[in-house]
Amino acid sequence: MLAPVVTTIAEVRAAVAAAREAGKTVGFVPTMGALHSGHASLVRAAAATSTFVVVSVFVNPTQFGPKEDFAKYPRTLDADQSLCSDAGAHLIFAPPASEMYPEQSVTFVEVKELDAELDGPTRPGHFRGVCTVVLKLFNIVLPDVAHFGAKDWQQARIVRQMVRDLNVPVEVRVEPTVREADGLAMSSRNRYLSPAERATAPAIYKALQAAKARVLAGEIDAARVESALYAELTAIPGARVDYARVLDANTLQPIQRLDRSAVAAVAVFLGTTRLIDNVLIGEG
Ligand code: PAF
Repeated sequence: MLAPVVTTIAEVRAAVAAAREAGKTVGFVPTMGALHSGHASLVRAAAATSTFVVVSVFVNPTQFGPKEDFAKYPRTLDADQSLCSDAGAHLIFAPPASEMYPEQSVTFVEVKELDAELDGPTRPGHFRGVCTVVLKLFNIVLPDVAHFGAKDWQQARIVRQMVRDLNVPVEVRVEPTVREADGLAMSSRNRYLSPAERATAPAIYKALQAAKARVLAGEIDAARVESALYAELTAIPGARVDYARVLDANTLQPIQRLDRSAVAAVAVFLGTTRLIDNVLIGEG
């Protein structure tokens, strides 16, 4: 059976209230649609944890820069509805922008410091847009548990911090990255890749695996791992490296020694498509 799609905040609130009245717990998966198996695994994780699962499908304009892909971001609501339903969702919230941002909003949520590296500098305003919409969605859905993908490591870390700092009563769970058979991290943006770009894309994960292998072989110097990672990525035909960083996995600040949990995180353009990926390395 297909999970119903609702478009208004009032409908979500009524459905969630009814579910709670019936003794259900509420799980939530926020998405921008164009769903793939990675999203399906988030919905399955939510369905395994909570008895009423809400998925939001909203391409949030405030997290896109003026030169980014907001206009061309794929909108595939019918397919999204089937995928969510098969994975165990009970309700899909797909509001128009006018429902989420009815008039000129002047309130935004900003998490400092955790946006100092990675996508923070290269996508100014991105995390402010993400945090603002995620908090709005949390206030609409009022979930017990919300599920995010580890592919967007910085996003998940920032959302967790926001929840902690603002005492939002939701548990944030970070679920493992889902990959294609050849290692490419699943992403809604993979569908932009030309056949040639798709063929080279798995080299991004291979470079991350090589970084991890260096650390497992005893390399302790973060800068050496970072520069080897950068070199491997720049050697990918047609690739333009936006960043390749090795950071403390928790603070997202630069580190010298890999004596704690660290994240190797990259953003790489293949043609005009920007792909991100990461692996955890280091101790802890
Ligand atoms: O990861 C995403 O798809 C988006 O950033 C999110 C969390 C749905 C907020 O728009």
